[in-house]
Amino acid sequence: MKFFIDTANLAQIKEAHDLGILDGVTTNPSLMAKEGIKGEEAIINHYKTICEIVDGDISAEVLSTEFNAIIAEGQKLAAIHPNIVVKVPMIKDGVKAIKWFTDNGIRTNCTLVFSAGQAILAAKAGAAMVSPFIGRIDDSNWDGVDLIAQIANIFSIQGFKTEILAASIRSSLHIVKCAEAGADICTCPLDPILGMLKHPLTDIGLAKFLEDAKKM
Ligand code: E4P
Repeated sequence: MKFFIDTANLAQIKEAHDLGILDGVTTNPSLMAKEGIKGEEAIINHYKTICEIVDGDISAEVLSTEFNAIIAEGQKLAAIHPNIVVKVPMIKDGVKAIKWFTDNGIRTNCTLVFSAGQAILAAKAGAAMVSPFIGRIDDSNWDGVDLIAQIANIFSIQGFKTEILAASIRSSLHIVKCAEAGADICTCPLDPILGMLKHPLTDIGLAKFLEDAKKM
């Protein structure tokens, strides 16, 4: 399973990259706004900087919702760097745009996916990745990890090549459960990634080894 970091914060991207386990980055308008990135030039420069830090897939989300505008915006984003994956919302014009991008050699990540039906449509349109938002599903009293497993089963039966990118991750356990359920990629904030390092028995064991090492 690939690890993406779900942030537009450059310090956190660098920290995850330095850990040596980072395969890519996802951003969204909320994450970009949180970093104070405003205006087309600043947005493009920010994506360029991220592409310089991480040599992997970088999802850049379109802000348009009408077909022609999505195409124009997606082409501009894709021109920033070959690693840019255009992130397109799961709406009717979005599905049409994903098909257009696929036919024109531009990779897409279909975002805001909350059902297996939506995932099938994105895959049929040729999306490189589909992003089910598992944390937001859990927040609505449904089981986000179950959706990952359902989509993984469907894609396997049907032979869809679209990668399942588990998004809206809230915890380290989410990451483990998504790995078990068949996600190809997990995109997570930095804390759940670092949380995977932790186990109290590791700390106790290491303290004992270091203590005993003094007697060596
Ligand atoms: C990533 O592609 C999504 O935009 C992101 O994971 C959404 O996460 P949230 O539900 O924590 O906002």
